[in-house]
Amino acid sequence: MSDAKKQGWEITAEERDALYKIIFSRRDVRGQFLSDPIDDSVLSRILYAAHHAPSVGFMQPWNFILIRSQEVRKKIHTAFTKAHKEAAEMFSQEKQEIYKGLKLEGILESAVNICVTCDTSRSGPVVIGRTHIDTMDSYSSVCAIENLWLAARAEGLGLGWVSIIDEAELKKILQIPEHVIPVGYLCLGKVSHFWEKPELESAGWLPRIELEKLVNFEYWEGKPAKEHDSFVKQLKEDADFPLTAE
Ligand SMILES: Cc1cc2nc3c(=O)[nH]c(=O)nc-3n(C[C@H](O)[C@H](O)[C@H](O)COP(=O)(O)O)c2cc1C
Repeated sequence: MSDAKKQGWEITAEERDALYKIIFSRRDVRGQFLSDPIDDSVLSRILYAAHHAPSVGFMQPWNFILIRSQEVRKKIHTAFTKAHKEAAEMFSQEKQEIYKGLKLEGILESAVNICVTCDTSRSGPVVIGRTHIDTMDSYSSVCAIENLWLAARAEGLGLGWVSIIDEAELKKILQIPEHVIPVGYLCLGKVSHFWEKPELESAGWLPRIELEKLVNFEYWEGKPAKEHDSFVKQLKEDADFPLTAE
């Protein structure tokens, strides 16, 4: 008997399919938030899922600032609106028209906002695995965010990541100290529905890239050699895998 089986941690085909369903049906939610509150038990489970993410040197650099007060959220929303206007100017005339029509946050409507941070000093100056690439600590907080996002989807909740905010302004509003990075500002709540496709795809902003075009062999531009033919064929065959998982 395998160790996994002994522990009761063997994954059944049904459980595997449930995970794929969660992954493929996860969406970034901006406009479908309902005003209903989230149960404490649900929020607690989701935060535990985030806290069990992998982290460089087991540093666990994250904190979760829960923002329920409308007063604080309004300040964040004002910072978003300023950055959003500045952002619009950065795109071509044609893209600006689409950009201005997009809803890119649910700061005020969602049940709760969560700022996930990275405390770069969490376990001292020398961290296993961060010795040669400084950004590994922030990547760990991103892993926590992905866990949080998937757990939210499993609980039937929507989550939207808001990044169109000046970082210094965000830190000032939330009183975040110098050595702490606000990695993700998230809006979480019950939703009316989940869209089938990313909103940016439906709006004609960008399409999903075919996976086979993103897979290289041995080197950055490494093309598939003869021995990779069957794998490339498999990738093409599975192109509709997300749909079959639903
Ligand atoms: C790091 C990061 C920052 C993002 N920032 C924003 C944002 O400011 N506003 C927004 O509406 N969506 C934001 N998104 C969501 C993406 O637009 C979205 O993930 C992408 O279009 C694919 O859609 P999906 O998440 O529904 O699959 C962000 C996503 C990530 C990972």
